[in-house]
This record gives sequence, structure tokens and C-alpha cells, in this order.
Amino acid sequence: MKPDALAEGGELASLLTRLADGEWHSGERLAESEGVTRAALAKRVERLRELDLDIEARHGLGYRIDGGLDRLDAAALSAAIPQADIEVVPLIDSTNAALVERPTVQRPQVLLAERQSAGRGRRGRPWASPFAANLYLSVAWRFPSWPPQLTTLPLVIGVAVAAALQDCGAGSLGIKWPNDLLEAGRKLGGILIEQRGEAGEHCRVVVGIGVNLRMTARQAGSIDQPWTTLEQSCAAAGAIMPPRTEVARRVISRVLESLMQFQLEGFEPFIDDYARFDLVRGQPVTVHGSERFDGTALGIDTHGALRVRGPDGEVTVNAGDVSLRVRQP
Ligand code: BTN
Repeated sequence: MKPDALAEGGELASLLTRLADGEWHSGERLAESEGVTRAALAKRVERLRELDLDIEARHGLGYRIDGGLDRLDAAALSAAIPQADIEVVPLIDSTNAALVERPTVQRPQVLLAERQSAGRGRRGRPWASPFAANLYLSVAWRFPSWPPQLTTLPLVIGVAVAAALQDCGAGSLGIKWPNDLLEAGRKLGGILIEQRGEAGEHCRVVVGIGVNLRMTARQAGSIDQPWTTLEQSCAAAGAIMPPRTEVARRVISRVLESLMQFQLEGFEPFIDDYARFDLVRGQPVTVHGSERFDGTALGIDTHGALRVRGPDGEVTVNAGDVSLRVRQP
């Protein structure tokens, strides 16, 4: 589907807005207000379903999106975060891919999408991105010079996002090294940092953040690992998840603050908070890299690498080189 179809004035935009209230809308009325035949309306509904939207159809009642849609409010985000350029798009391949391609500018750039058609995760995996269900956003940040501890940036961002989600009411989430956000062993969110190699003075990173907010099992479709949502996490803690725009505001604000603090002070101010969220320290782990071995995680070093006591003594492993499985003790 072309992104224009969902943008303001696009042929699917008004139908989506009508269905966003969660009420039943008769097919006849919808067709009339859209100025199309019933058959053409049914085709438009099918196209919206391609976005992984759960649109119910019932004889005598018409169509509805159960629970309605909680769409992102770009104007509210821009007003709340004046220090960055904020853009919300309905549909894109990947917010990371788009920002990586854009030219470097001084001000931080934040791009959010209601849906990604080719969301990317770490290690080349896809990232499920159904329409208006979760949070998909990227931040482009320009460091004036190369930060000496750039390898620790994934951990810094992990702490920032975990703290923001906790502020939103999440119960007992933690970080699986280097920066998987988990609750009770289930994935709540992930971070993908990409860097465009520009030899020379400055360094630009694109920080991609995906957080599961209220996805259904059908929308989760092909996810091949246990997952959870912020809504479930908040409910377990007796809290109600704030609207998506508010979750986005908290995440973006924390991430921008943390990027600035990291630029000025490095990793040191984040070490204690990382330890607070660290789910791996002291756990039995299996490290999959060029070779595979079992050991015990001992925490992180000053470069953000994981220290592991393995069969041949202590080793440090880097996030880019290995994947990690925490074994049941
Ligand atoms: C992971 O595999 O844990 C990282 C997932 C990162 C997903 C986010 S969603 C927004 C941004 N755009 C992408 O294509 N990926 C990141």
C-alpha cells in the first residue's frame, strides 16, 4: 500500500477516521459518506486489514474496530518536545531506514510511524509493526565528536526506555543484556542502533525503539519468542497504561535527555541504573558466538561488554558479536 492512501486526503484516510471511534458503522452509511459503492467499500476495508487492523464485520451491524484506535498526536508531541523535530507518519517501511538515509542536521530528528511494513529488529530479524497498536520510533542524534564510549550507548538507551516505561506504570520490567526490554521473560520492547559511517569529525546515530503496547495475538502473528505488552504490564501492577501519545512523549523525552547526558558525561551516570534493571547478572547463560559456551553472567564492564565466567575463566563478550540465552537456574 502507498503511504499516501493513509495520509490526510488519501482514499483510505477518512474511512479509518470514521472507524477509529470503535463503534459499529453500517456498510450502507459508510459507503454513502465515502462516496463509493458497497463493493468498493468492502475493498477499502480489505485494504485496511492489510495493515493488520482487526476490523470486524457483522451482518446487520456493519464494521467496527473493537476498542477503537488510539492514534498518535503529532502536534501534542511537537508542543511537548520543542528541542527536537518530530514527525508522525501513518505508514513507512522502517523509521530507522528512513532516518539513516536522511542528511545529518544539528537538531535531533524524531520519526514515529503508526505502522512499519518492514520494521527491522536486531540480528536481521523482522519487527512486527501492526497499525496504531504499538510504538515504533527512531531518533537521529548528532554527536559533535566521536563519544569515547560509543559501545555503551545501547545500554544507555535501554535504561532510558526502561525508566520511561516504569514511569508509565510498567510493573517489573528489566533489561536483558545488552538492551532487550523484558517482563517475566517476555519481550516488551527492543532497541536497534544504527550508525552511518561518516569518517571525520562528527558521529551520527539512529536510535530505533519498538515497544509493544496493546497488540493482539493475531497482530503479533509471526513473532517467534514469548512477548508481552505495556498494557498487560501496567495491568499486572494495578495501573492503566496512558494513551500512546503520552507513552511516546515519555520515551522520547527520556531518550533525548539521556543522549545529551551521555554526550557530556559518558556512561558513568548510567551504571547504577543499568544494574537496577539488569536481569542477567548472576544468571546462568549460554553465549552463542563464533563458539558456544555456558557460563555465569558477572555484570558489565566499562565498555558495556558482558563479563561471563566460562569453563576457561572470565571472558568479556561484545553485543555485536554474540547472542545470549539466559538458562533456567
Ligand atoms: C530488537 O530486535 O530487539 C530491536 C527492535 C527495534 C525495532 C524498532 S521499531 C522502530 C525502529 N524502526 C525499525 O525498523 N526498527 C526499530
